[in-house]
Amino acid sequence: MRHLIDFGDLAREEWDALYARASQIIDDPSRFIDVCRGKVSANLFYEPSTRTNFSFQTAMLRLGGTVFGFADPNSSSVAKGETLKDTIKMVSGYADVIVMRTPWEGAAKAASLYSHVPVINAGDGGHMHPTQTMADLTTMTRLLGGVDGLSLGLCGDLKNGRTVHSLIKAMAKFKNIQFFLISPRELAVPEYMRVFMKENGMRFTEVTGLEAVIPQLDVLYMTRIQKERFVDPLEYERNKGIYVLTRRKLDRAKKDMLVMHPLPRVDEITVDVDDDPRAVYFQQARYGMFARMALLEHLALQPREEQVPSVEIGTKPVCSNPRCITQTQPYLPPLVKKVGNIDCCGFCDAALR
Ligand code: NCD
Repeated sequence: MRHLIDFGDLAREEWDALYARASQIIDDPSRFIDVCRGKVSANLFYEPSTRTNFSFQTAMLRLGGTVFGFADPNSSSVAKGETLKDTIKMVSGYADVIVMRTPWEGAAKAASLYSHVPVINAGDGGHMHPTQTMADLTTMTRLLGGVDGLSLGLCGDLKNGRTVHSLIKAMAKFKNIQFFLISPRELAVPEYMRVFMKENGMRFTEVTGLEAVIPQLDVLYMTRIQKERFVDPLEYERNKGIYVLTRRKLDRAKKDMLVMHPLPRVDEITVDVDDDPRAVYFQQARYGMFARMALLEHLALQPREEQVPSVEIGTKPVCSNPRCITQTQPYLPPLVKKVGNIDCCGFCDAALR
């Protein structure tokens, strides 16, 4: 059973095929209105979402399928104390595909162990957001003709921004990428990401200033400071509003640089940038819907897996990341994976100590 938990799950050829399909859908969506006729998507959103939830809903509706689910876990049995495992076993009895967003890192991976139908990770805490990456890559490929050889500036909250982590993972599949990681020191990428980049021979430079590097970029990917992920409110106060892209700063950028943003924007891009032809974030959101249509077609048509392989029952979490799904669901098996030569949690990727 194919799921999409982490962009790394996709082989490069599989992504190329998905992009080709997304591109055909963009060119003529009317050809695809019956592709998922009769299919039902369960959208389980345990955390606020506007565009990702709408994007997945409209993607399924445009393919002729239907959608049910919740956007507020308090309206589900989770509020009564149901485990994730039970919710997934039950929901995968009703649906053909599960789309889930949670505040817990590794939750989509956990769900995939128990699901009879494909699980799509629509964001798990500060960890990963692979379908946003599909939107991002679709945008770059459509508008710049390809991804190989690009110089990308990732700016903002690189510690907590799952869109950034997913995008970096995805870039390992392309050639000759150069990253400028622009963040305050305390919001720099997590160590497991640095290890990942080194392991994959990816070139990256970590800087704190945006203006000095702008002229070198083909893509500037702005992100929001992820207020809801800060344990220490003072840390948020220190960092909010730290990067603001203005029309004036864009003067020094390449004429065909793309300004991207997963949205929602708070104050990191001023409104006057919206009218610059390089600002493509709304188009990026629309491409995201088409990319999700290609993904739903790819995953939701698989036959249901009647017999889910049984998994070992855990006794205590092996991971000390307080946001890891294993902290709240203690029955999960103690999954460990190697990133480089470091033992990491098989759910959230945090290094095990
Ligand atoms: C992002 C997310 O939820 O991680 N939004 C989205 O899915 N488009 C980015 C964010 O919330 O800052």
